[in-house]
Amino acid sequence: AASDPDLVARARAAKEALGDRVFVLGHHYQRDEVIEFADVTGDSFKLARDAAGRPDAEYVVFCGVHFMAESADILTGPDQAVILPDLAAGCSMADMAGLAQVEDAWDALEDVGIASSVVPVTYMNSSADIKAFCGKHGGAVCTSSNAQVALEWAYAQKKDAKVLFLPDQHLGRNTAVRELGMSLDDCVVWNPHKPNGGLTPGQLRDARMILWKGHCSVHGRFTAQCVDDVRERVPGVQVLVHPECTHEVVTKADLVGSTEFIIKTVEAAPPGSSWAIGTELNLVQRLANAHPEQHITFLDKTVCYCSTMNRIDLPHFVWAMENLVAGHVVNRIEVDPETERWAKVALQRMLDLPA
Ligand code: 13P
Ligand code: SF4
Repeated sequence: AASDPDLVARARAAKEALGDRVFVLGHHYQRDEVIEFADVTGDSFKLARDAAGRPDAEYVVFCGVHFMAESADILTGPDQAVILPDLAAGCSMADMAGLAQVEDAWDALEDVGIASSVVPVTYMNSSADIKAFCGKHGGAVCTSSNAQVALEWAYAQKKDAKVLFLPDQHLGRNTAVRELGMSLDDCVVWNPHKPNGGLTPGQLRDARMILWKGHCSVHGRFTAQCVDDVRERVPGVQVLVHPECTHEVVTKADLVGSTEFIIKTVEAAPPGSSWAIGTELNLVQRLANAHPEQHITFLDKTVCYCSTMNRIDLPHFVWAMENLVAGHVVNRIEVDPETERWAKVALQRMLDLPA
């Protein structure tokens, strides 16, 4: 639906009034009505870099979800305020790994006698305190665009290293098996709701990859059946999916990669190419609108937005921006200094990885 013209005019006016004092970041899964006002768009890796690249901006308005705004706060200066237009824009995957649960898991790994060989790696989609945990324990952050290099880095840190991968089991498994050549048997899943993760000491000692039992509620909805159905419906279609999809889906797909990869792949394809894309729907619809010369369909038949990403809408954006114009910083995301210090160590290890 078209945006309310009054709100559009107010968003424009607020942006103009703030000028270079504000920097607006928009994740690829944001609504069109919000993306329209973003100074830069990107996946979580690019946005973390971009946020760090504007030290002169007084306000960083983050149109994305909570963990991304936290990362932006960690990577920006103390005098820069990071604002999340709706505080309810969380991420169900990030919420699947709580610090106390991860600390319990670590204690259990110590009891089994393997903690000293474990390198914790967390997906960007995690809270700042989980990133800090990884920083403190010699680990790093990764995103879907650099998971392979991050894991290669982790396995090079110690002799016979094991990785504890948080919180997305699918990204961890897909990267280990597809990019690092491990077998599915090298991976075990740690269930935080079961004693000892539901694993025996022997299973933990034998594993090379300990996957946290978390997943994305959006990408987790694509099934192998979706892939079979679309291949039948659209002859010659190429299936392009995000690595947060299950291993089964990724195995059946033609191409797998982060949101930036998905966009670049479509942009580089010749006219007449046919795609079924398995990622968040705002992005797929925007790609389809931008490339009428290609045939782009959504991998699932049902609607599949990320509901928390969608919480950032034009009314919330206008509210946050107009408050800034009036000198009120609303919805500031501030990570406490101790968490920030260690989370920054883990984020910096990621930013230092070879490109
Ligand atoms: P990327 O931005 O790393 O592609 O991750 C997708 C996602 O689910 C973000 O929440
Ligand atoms: Fe979290 Fe998935 Fe939404 Fe990304 S798409 S914010 S991982 S729930």
